[in-house]
Order: sequence, then C-alpha cells, then structure tokens
Amino acid sequence: AAIVEHTFVVHEMNMTHLCNSTKVYVVNGQLPGPQLDVVDGDTVVVHLVNELPHGVTIHWHGVRQLRSCWADGAGYVTECPVAPGGNRTYRFDVSGQVGTLWWHAHVTCLRASVHGAIVVRPKDGRYPFPTPARDVPIVIGEWWTLDLVELDRRNLDGNFEDDPLSATLNGKLGDLSNCSGVPEESFVLDVEPGKTYLLRFINTALFSEYFFKVAGHTFTVVGADANYLTPFRTDMVTISPGETMDVLMVADAPPGLYHMTAVANQPPPPDLQIRALTSRGLVRYAGVRADNGGAPVPAPLMPGQHDTMPSYYFRGNFTGLAFPSRHRVPAHVDERLFVTLGLGSICRGGKKDCKLRRSNETITVATMNNVSFHHQTAASLLERHYDGTGEGLYTEDFPDRPPRPYNYTNMDLIPVGPLEEVLEPTTKAIRVRRFKYNSSVEIVFQSTALLQSDPNPMHLHGHDFFVLAQGLGNFDPKKDVKKFNYHNPQIRNTVHVPRVGWTAIRFIADNPGMWYLHCHFEFHIVMGMATAFIVEDGPTPETSLPPPPADFKRCGTNGFSKP
Ligand code: C2O
Repeated sequence: AAIVEHTFVVHEMNMTHLCNSTKVYVVNGQLPGPQLDVVDGDTVVVHLVNELPHGVTIHWHGVRQLRSCWADGAGYVTECPVAPGGNRTYRFDVSGQVGTLWWHAHVTCLRASVHGAIVVRPKDGRYPFPTPARDVPIVIGEWWTLDLVELDRRNLDGNFEDDPLSATLNGKLGDLSNCSGVPEESFVLDVEPGKTYLLRFINTALFSEYFFKVAGHTFTVVGADANYLTPFRTDMVTISPGETMDVLMVADAPPGLYHMTAVANQPPPPDLQIRALTSRGLVRYAGVRADNGGAPVPAPLMPGQHDTMPSYYFRGNFTGLAFPSRHRVPAHVDERLFVTLGLGSICRGGKKDCKLRRSNETITVATMNNVSFHHQTAASLLERHYDGTGEGLYTEDFPDRPPRPYNYTNMDLIPVGPLEEVLEPTTKAIRVRRFKYNSSVEIVFQSTALLQSDPNPMHLHGHDFFVLAQGLGNFDPKKDVKKFNYHNPQIRNTVHVPRVGWTAIRFIADNPGMWYLHCHFEFHIVMGMATAFIVEDGPTPETSLPPPPADFKRCGTNGFSKP
C-alpha cells in the first residue's frame, strides 16, 4: 500500500463567468479541486493550509474512517475549523472501498466550491465489469455568485431566496451565453468509437438532485458510493447531493457530436421559486469536425423539471453486487429508529416566549423527529465525548420516533398560506444517540409532506449501510417489512429518501467515534435536519478510538470557534 500525499491550499480567487468576475473559494486554484487517486488499501495524507478569512474543515465524504474519526472533518461535530492562516494534516486509510467518493469543505456553504473527487481503484486493477478505456469524473455542481459564507448567514436567518446562476459540469456552465453572446465553455467528453468509458458522477450541488442524459447513448450503472451494484441499464442517471455513481457508457452511436444535459429536478409546486438549472456538455467522437459537418447536434429529451417519479424508480431498481464478498445484512436489530424528516418553527433570536404561529417572530427550521439540530461553535461534539465532558453541550436522548404520529404524507398538510402559521412548535437542541460497539441499527426515514414535499438525501458519516427498501406514502411496519431486501441490497453512505415516501436502512455500528447524520441538501443542514451518533469503543484497543493526532483542532485553543 502506498501513501498518497497532497497539499491543499484553500484560498480566494476571482473567476469570470457570464461577464462577471466573482470571488470564489477554491483549493489550489482549481474548481473542481484536485482529484485524489488512490488504490484500495492506501493511506491518504493531506496537508490543509487555510488562506481564507474564514475557518475551514475538509470532510472525506464516504471514506469509512475506521478508527480515525478525528480525520472526518465535520465542522463542530468532529473538529473545530482550521483558523485563517492555520493548517492541519488529515491522515487516514482507504480500505475495503472501491469506486468514487469525494471530499468537500464541511463548514457553512463552502462545499459549493471547495470539493473534488476521490477515485479508489481496485488493488489488482480488476473490476467486475469490462475494463473501461478511460475513466472520467463528471462533477455536477452549481455556479454561485453570492458569497458562500453570506449565503449560510442568510439561510440561518430563514432566508432561502437565493439561487445559483447555473448548473455546472466539471466546473463549466455550458448552457448560457455571456453579455456579448459568446457561449460559456462546455465540458467535452472525447470518445473513440466502440470504446467503453467509466463515468464517475458526483453531485456536489447545494440544493438539487440532477437528471443526466447523453443524446443517442445509454448507460450501465455499476457502482454507487464506492460499492458495486448489479449492472443496471438506463438512459438517464439521477443523482442527489452527496451521492456518487459509477456508470459505463459505450461510444456505440454513429460518430458525431451529441449533447449531454444535466437538469435539476425540483419537487412539484408549491416549491416554484427555483428556475430550471441546466448545464450542457458535449460527447465528441474522434475525427468529428467541431461544426459536426453542418449536421444538427442531437440533444437528449429530458423529463419535466418537476417530474419526481423517474428518480424514485431509478434507485428502486438498484441491488448490490457481492463482489468482493461483503458482510451480510445483520438478521437481528438491536436499535430501531423511525425518523420523520419535517419542518417546525422556533422563536427568532433565541427568545422563549414568542407567538409560535406568528411568522414575523419565528424562524422555520428543519427537524428529525421534531428535534432541530442546534449549530453551536463552542466545541466539537467528538472532543467533548472523548474527554467525557459532553454534559451541557448535548444530551444522549435522540428520540426513537416522532413525538406524535400523524398522516406524514398527506399532501393537504402543505400549507396554502405562510408556513409559520401551520408548523409545529419545535426546539433547537443537540440530542444525539449512543450505540454499543457492533450493535445492529435499523432506521426508517420518513419524508413528510410538511417539508414542502422535498426528498431528502440522508448521509451517515463513518459507516456504509444496507438499503433494505423504499416506498411511497407512510411506512407501514406490518406490510412494508415484507419488501425488505436481505439478499442483495445496495450498500450506500447516502440514500435518497423519496418525496412523500420512506427508505429503510440497516448497519452495524462498528466504528467508534461521533458520526454526523444529516440531509445533504445544504439548506436542510442549516435548518437543522441533522443529528449525530456516538459509537462506543469495543472491548479491545483494536476496536477503540485512538487518541487525537497532535494537530487536532480544539475550539478556542488551536481551532477556530467562529463560523
Ligand atoms: Cu458530504 Cu456531512 O457530508
């Protein structure tokens, strides 16, 4: 096994799109940032140098971080941010995972531009599918002209009016023309006829699930979240923020130019304020003239912007491929949680006694079982847990189920008037959950109509989980458990919980530490759709969390306790 070493300098720079120079936060002058190429079993060492006027952390999204929770990089959960002018080294192993993962900043909204791919290749170089001629990352993102730290501030204050200007493919806007009619640069995928390409999709967007198609071509999805899938044929890839997908595409069309299109999928009205965010690119066959010999360039036919069903059926078709053989789905369940993903309201400015149903005195927050995660900056949850001084910062009573059952997916719940008038009073708190080492945990996530009918890509740090089933409507324990796939479920770290539907997962809590669980829509995180799991140490040193590295950032000492 090798050591893969990088230095990441996070800094500001100006980039010009659509005739406007915008200050952006990037790593090493690149957007997307540098790609980490590792082989299963390698050790990654990244020296982070912070040249921003803000604190920053880097999270290695999907990397198991087995016994290295200190390197997980979740701001204020596993560490305090690296202060302006400061640095730290992240060191961790990537082992037992093959495919595509990614890294991103994990404080405020910085991840919109501070991100990059992690590509993990198999030790023996062999895939359970034909070896591709080349692999190509396709990073779906968004171009923001608003300062990302300011965006976070506005979201925290309950202001969600801001949109990105465009979707991007590998940082290219691709679909829009600038002030003098010059088209923005597009992402171009060069192919040779008959060859197979491994497209490594990552959705880094803050706000949207994306549909992706290439005119005249089909795909075979072979992996997701660095776990192999049973090959699945489709003409469209659907990907939510936080998800990654490995997809084969054969260049088997008549040589020419073909448009690729990524378009944001948005829940149906009333969530109408978001424009159809699109980015276009090109597939270009070797030897084809840039003007396509005068022939029109075919564009794929995309589903409607508000058509959520293709997304539901797409993931419902995934099953896992037992290669290399992975551990089996645990047959027993030690801890069973039913978690509603909803909205509530709290008093503005931390007041206790506001009229909770009057909109000018309240802020709308997102909840899990009617608890809204409190974003604090006094200490990281992990350092408090490790030092045994968690008291006062969090409690260990995240509820098993919502405080009162209701018809979660009744669309009549969607308010016609101001949201604040119908939402449940809720509280801001850090209520985590403690699991014994090696316990088997089952969670059913229930999306609710209250949440303006959004879907929710739920991401768990430090663990992969089996996706047992998904369904529409309210989860019914009596009949829906019959749908659970114990035989060959897909293994993921991020699961798209369908709008007005549910998803059931199961995992073994075998990684000691403090692990963030949250929706990967940035505005849902900011609004509080998050919690954390403590996994206790096992019985031996080999099953326990080692002490923190010397340069670990503690709030207020060498870390940064300002957002
Ligand atoms: Cu990519 Cu906590 O997430």
